[in-house]
Amino acid sequence: ARTAAVIPAAGRGVRLGPGAPKALRTLGGTPMLVHAVRAMAASRAVSLVVVVAPADGTAEVKALLDAHTLPERTDFLVVPGGENRQDSVKAGLDALPPGYDTVLVHDAARPLVPVDTVDAVIEAVRDGAVAVVPALPLADTVKEVEPAAEGPEPVVATPQRARLRAVQTPQGFERATLVRAHETVTDNVTDDASMVEQLGLPVVVVPGHEEAFKVTRPLDLVLAEAVLARRRK
Ligand code: CTP
Ligand code: MG
Repeated sequence: ARTAAVIPAAGRGVRLGPGAPKALRTLGGTPMLVHAVRAMAASRAVSLVVVVAPADGTAEVKALLDAHTLPERTDFLVVPGGENRQDSVKAGLDALPPGYDTVLVHDAARPLVPVDTVDAVIEAVRDGAVAVVPALPLADTVKEVEPAAEGPEPVVATPQRARLRAVQTPQGFERATLVRAHETVTDNVTDDASMVEQLGLPVVVVPGHEEAFKVTRPLDLVLAEAVLARRRK
């Protein structure tokens, strides 16, 4: 019952603004991707990490992983990514050797997820769930709108906030199910679990963690640096 983690890291990070690809931007002097790899390798259950790098940056990413200290018990693979996140995850899955029956998919853009969250996701899969997502209740009320190019947008609905969860990664899957989802679902989705939902299979939520937030916009970098600084105290 071996577990592998696929880390999609091939995005440009357009919302973060100009600069290096997001996964290579540093936090506390260390590339975000290295933090994310360490976060997965911190779990004793994870014995392989597959990093999906920008297509023109696989050599650079390999060199980066070689240059940083990573746990000896964990193996690493680097493969080139695709146009969108879904293609990149698929590239990672295609590179997975046999023998790994639990797969985590973790955004390089969530560098600070604590190991307890990783372990909780793995445990839920090993206990029989085919798909597991860590998630948190929302602070903001959410409105569905009719998107407008300009001017005020009409509100369509207000889902009950108490029933909503903001989804994080690592998401955990029974490997065969995730592979089938990626072979079957063709629309562009923003998370892997929704592909499993589209197969009609059950997805369950376990508690996420505040520090598993996604670095998306410049303000998120400020928060990430502050979280790291607090850990190092
Ligand atoms: N990702 C990927 N391949 C892509 C697009 C995204 O591997 N073609 C990865 C990103 O590297 C990131 C994760 O998917 O780790 C989540 O995506 P997101 O936060 O949207 O990152 P980016 O797509 O890089 O950012 P943006 O959408 O602002 O450009
Ligand atoms: Mg994106």
